[in-house]
Amino acid sequence: MADIPHFTVLPRHIGIIMDGNGRWAKMRGLPRTEGHRKGAEVFRDITTYCCELGIEVVTFYAFSTENWRRPPEEVGVLMNLFRDFLAETQRREQENEKMGFRIRFIGDMNRLPEDIRSLAAVLEARSSSQTHTTVNVAVNYGGRQEIVRAARAFAEKVKAGELTPDEISEEDFSAEIYTAFQPDPDMIIRPGGEFRLSNFMTWQSAYSELYFTDVYWPDFTREELNKALTEFDRRNRRFGGI
Ligand code: IPE
Ligand code: IPE
Ligand code: MG
Repeated sequence: MADIPHFTVLPRHIGIIMDGNGRWAKMRGLPRTEGHRKGAEVFRDITTYCCELGIEVVTFYAFSTENWRRPPEEVGVLMNLFRDFLAETQRREQENEKMGFRIRFIGDMNRLPEDIRSLAAVLEARSSSQTHTTVNVAVNYGGRQEIVRAARAFAEKVKAGELTPDEISEEDFSAEIYTAFQPDPDMIIRPGGEFRLSNFMTWQSAYSELYFTDVYWPDFTREELNKALTEFDRRNRRFGGI
């Protein structure tokens, strides 16, 4: 295994938009679903690598609120891959515990099949005391949906007389979204050649460094992550200052 290069600064939180599975498969004359299968393997390896690097939080965009527009067969395959991932996470519980993985699911889990929802909740609860690396898996996640959900929670509090509208602050908002109490993503990586965020971390990405690469997700490697981290190391983050 390649040595971990030296980085002066590492992101505390990395967001990854796992894109390009379909095109990767098409390029090889394979069905799109093969791209998803290979993509799931890469997801596992990059998760482990982030843990080895000591990254505090890594968020993987696995399925968006818009991805329901895909053919039902493809959605079915994605759900089955998600099931496999959950089952494997359960099997590897001890190993994951040793590595210090905390797993969280962000997004509206209510629309997912019951078996997925309940196993996800169990794994989330059982790993909740782990502190080394938190892995957020974004499933049926949409940045706008997340903001609307928070707005509704505030509206309920105002209605109940617990809060006045002018008391609502940015900090309150940050505490009401899925990634509450986690740092915002310092860097968002999008493989697959598109230059957009596709509804990923709309609130949290305000000051994220964006990194785009043409490499399709199934071809993404630890080496590719190193390239992104090297680039991050070089960036000058000003946050509006000088
Ligand atoms: C990302 O790959 C996986 C999901 C969005 C679930 P795509 O399936 O979007 O692959 P392309 O963009 O069509 O190549
Ligand atoms: C973004 O990829 C969503 C995920 C990777 C889960 P898409 O392939 O859905 O994005 P668009 O449609 O190209 O914007
Ligand atoms: Mg895509």
